Amino acid sequence: MKITPHEFENFNRVLTGVVVPRPIAFVSSVSADGVANLAPFSFFNAVAYSPPTVVLGISRQADWKEKDTLSNIEATGEFVVNVVVDEIAAAMNATAAEYPADVDEFHISGLTPAPSDLVRPPRVSESPVNMECRLDQVVQIGDPASGNGLVIGEILLMHVRDDLIDGHRIRHHQLKPVGRLAGSMYCRTHDTYELARPTYCPSASESQP
Ligand SMILES: Cc1cc2nc3c(=O)[nH]c(=O)nc-3n(C[C@H](O)[C@H](O)[C@H](O)COP(=O)(O)O)c2cc1C
Repeated sequence: MKITPHEFENFNRVLTGVVVPRPIAFVSSVSADGVANLAPFSFFNAVAYSPPTVVLGISRQADWKEKDTLSNIEATGEFVVNVVVDEIAAAMNATAAEYPADVDEFHISGLTPAPSDLVRPPRVSESPVNMECRLDQVVQIGDPASGNGLVIGEILLMHVRDDLIDGHRIRHHQLKPVGRLAGSMYCRTHDTYELARPTYCPSASESQP
């Protein structure tokens, strides 16, 4: 079967069904007048080491208005990415309704704000990893009136719960991040395996008969 985005009904569902699992950025931000906001985004990834860079794909609300997270990041230039683990998955989900801009989703979810060191948006205390980020740029995707904002941000500071660090690596079996599948389906990362990456060695291949 071949399908095209403009002809296939609900192409979005196919897209989010095949690009899986997606990490979830649980984003805290604040409005220009100081109202805190929390919302999850699974169009999210880390895309560069230097500077350490993350991206968020933020679409429109059902009424085509800009989402609060995007408005806040544009207004303040700051946000925090909190990693979602099992224990806070339900609370994360509770923040995902389209609440008005003056609603603080920390109250809705019962999660606890903790002050950040370098940016105004608070961190989520219950999340084991928080990334304090500064906006680099917002790239418009599609029609400016109805399209998406691709937020590109630089990580200024990462908070990691002490027990999760093993030397320079993260103990991901202990981190237990939640992944997003299509719709309301989620997954865990405990079914893992290892594949050592090969090294290309020209001299070895030249010596082959
Ligand atoms: C797990 C999960 C992932 C989501 N990922 C995205 C996403 O990548 N982009 C997006 O625009 N909305 C996404 N949403 C929907 C937003 O969280 C939702 O629209 C929310 O109301 C936005 O809040 P805000 O207006 O406070 O920014 C996701 C929802 C859930 C539950």
